[in-house]
Amino acid sequence: MRVLVVGSGGREHALCWSLAASPLLTKLWCAPGNPGIAQVAERVPIGVLDFPALVAFAQDNEIDLVVPGPEAPLVAGIADAMEAASIPCIGPSLAAAQLEGSKSYTKELCDAAGIPTAHWERFDDAEAAREFVRRRGTPIVVKADGLTAGKGVVVAATEDAALAAIEAVMEARAFGEAGAAVVIEECLTGEEVSLFALCDGETALSLGAAQDHKRVGEGETGANTGGMGAYSPTPSFPQALQEAAMAGIIRPALAEMVRRGTPFRGILYAGLMLTAEGVKLIEFNVRFGDPECQALLPRLMSDLLPALQAAYDGELENFDLRWNDIASIAVVMAARGYPEAPERGSEIRGLDLAAAMPSVQVFHAGTEADSDGHVRASGGRVLNVCATGVDVQAARDAAYAAVRLIDWPEGFCRQDIGWRALR
Ligand code: AMP
Ligand code: GLY
Repeated sequence: MRVLVVGSGGREHALCWSLAASPLLTKLWCAPGNPGIAQVAERVPIGVLDFPALVAFAQDNEIDLVVPGPEAPLVAGIADAMEAASIPCIGPSLAAAQLEGSKSYTKELCDAAGIPTAHWERFDDAEAAREFVRRRGTPIVVKADGLTAGKGVVVAATEDAALAAIEAVMEARAFGEAGAAVVIEECLTGEEVSLFALCDGETALSLGAAQDHKRVGEGETGANTGGMGAYSPTPSFPQALQEAAMAGIIRPALAEMVRRGTPFRGILYAGLMLTAEGVKLIEFNVRFGDPECQALLPRLMSDLLPALQAAYDGELENFDLRWNDIASIAVVMAARGYPEAPERGSEIRGLDLAAAMPSVQVFHAGTEADSDGHVRASGGRVLNVCATGVDVQAARDAAYAAVRLIDWPEGFCRQDIGWRALR
């Protein structure tokens, strides 16, 4: 098979690394990729939203399967663009990607399908939103309805913070049209976990669960980020609870999408809260988590490529995935200043030393090579240092040993990834 992965982050590096091991693979490309991805795939200099160029490339190179990684191309309709050119693409249609593209769409679907989630209301009038906050009191959660790369959510402890969020999202339009409406919801308390499922429209196959670390600082302090590290398996979200969430959250969502005539095909990501009243949905995403993907794929024993193909073909019903009974961890190394203002351009050394450690993989997330071939930081989250081990402690020890071999004074990482599993 000739496969094109779309994206340039650590998640896409992990996807490429996993696909490159498939005996079914003839050739792997990645658009636009990064210097780490270049070790396992050929880079294609096309941006993730340039659909005409991606379609032309896929046609010229007789691509058998397109695998988009990030939400932006999915929510912009990459699967439809490929479909229109008869190119197989494993990802949801534009209509099904509303599960990530619109918060109110998902909340309304939850109510229709009986999926447990926080109580909510949608407002397209700022004064009505303010009135609701004053009436309901705090804590309360204010979310831009549209796509904001995870930045449009404020968990407000005070009324002032909630009112300021409404002002920023709806009136100052801090996130543009994504803030034309807000969803205001009940604040849930508990531990957050991520559950992933590969879906073919009708059938969902679990891709396992992982726990992310969203805050930039140790002990869950500081600014929210895209995720500073992840690990799997998750002791606080054992197999039985995962199966209950597949049955009570993922499968009802798929059934409701079929009922609406917009079946979901691709990877469905359920962001969950383990509350005192049971597991509740915080949000759906229509893609693998980043860095959860980097922690999960090293545990996958089965070949990823035929699984993605079966999902595309609607044949997951008789498909099975096997997982290694080991622990895995991904530690994110970020550029100084992340998330507010990451410094770009610093050189990173020692990557080969770290990658040579047994059971360690170093995925590139935000790197570029300069004209001399030196690897330099080019984004906020820059590297994902991943390791497996017999348990989370062993995986974590190996990952941090690899981190110490990386010579990058301008980078930092949290030292406590996986702490909840080691309590
Ligand atoms: P979202 O973009 O919807 O995943 O929200 C980003 C983050 O905000 C989540 O990962 C949670 O930590 C937090 N959050 C979102 N909704 C709620 C809620 N209803 N209650 C408590 N925390 C929430
Ligand atoms: N790690 C969170 C996300 O991928 O959205």
